[in-house]
Amino acid sequence: MKNNRNQALIDKLTQLKKERNAVILAHNYQLGEVQDIADFVGDSLDLSRKAAKTSAEVIVFCGVLFMAETASILCPDKIVLLPEINAGCPLADMATVKKLKEEKKKHLNPYVICYVNSSAEVKAESDICCTSANAIKIVKKLNKTKEILFIPDQHLGHYVSSQLNKNLVLWHGYCPTHVRILPEDIIRLKAEHPQAKVMVHPECTPEVISLADEVQSTVGMCKFAKETEAPEIIVGTELGIIHRLRKENPEKRFFPATEQAICPDMKLITLKKVVWSLEKMQFQVKVPTEIANRARRAVDKMLELG
Ligand code: 13P
Repeated sequence: MKNNRNQALIDKLTQLKKERNAVILAHNYQLGEVQDIADFVGDSLDLSRKAAKTSAEVIVFCGVLFMAETASILCPDKIVLLPEINAGCPLADMATVKKLKEEKKKHLNPYVICYVNSSAEVKAESDICCTSANAIKIVKKLNKTKEILFIPDQHLGHYVSSQLNKNLVLWHGYCPTHVRILPEDIIRLKAEHPQAKVMVHPECTPEVISLADEVQSTVGMCKFAKETEAPEIIVGTELGIIHRLRKENPEKRFFPATEQAICPDMKLITLKKVVWSLEKMQFQVKVPTEIANRARRAVDKMLELG
């Protein structure tokens, strides 16, 4: 019954996509039913690149608001749809322009590197963007004598700083989903599955990161899972990625570090809402031109370097 209903929705979506000349981009944390109908499933960097290159007139972004905003910044002439306008990112909300301006003053105008999980306004106040896939590469390439302020994720910032042995001024933001993954979760699973490799996202705490074999962005995890000979993998990130990992590696076993690692915002988008979104052409995400122009400099610089 459910399958029939889903098939009817998929048929409708196929028709709407053609009529609207639309492309569907989905983040690795989306529900399986959304990942399965997307044209591209990827991490933040992948999806920014896809948005920048697409010839489609409409981009349906199945992710959270900052991702749709990034697509709007890169493609100001396209219509960007977010199927659920309440899909936000608490980490992104932890950095505001007001607070950023205060910090800049305090640190005598530092060079600001801003994780892509941030609002368009905050990007516009930053010098360069990064994602979890390219943060190390980008910070390594920066030849700055002044202080570098890394916003808003303290754990990603700490990880980059430790890998490069470079001092970064860290913001106090964190992802509420990733901090639910605890060292004891990893220790318990490692004891139960001694052969398993552990891969975690750099938004995890340093204590969790120190127990991992691999620290990767979500696409980095998909790549590692394909390439490793390990038949079992413990996964320290949002649960949505397990769908893709199992689909692409049916012969391997994946163990989520904890069932608690669910991002409620990512889960707001459903297949039904994607169809509705294209039918009604809602919700349109359009970053105002002045902000988009300033934010684009930071995003373009990232795409150039990373
Ligand atoms: P990725 O860039 O690794 O997909 O991560 C994005 C994100 O929002 C992690 O919480």
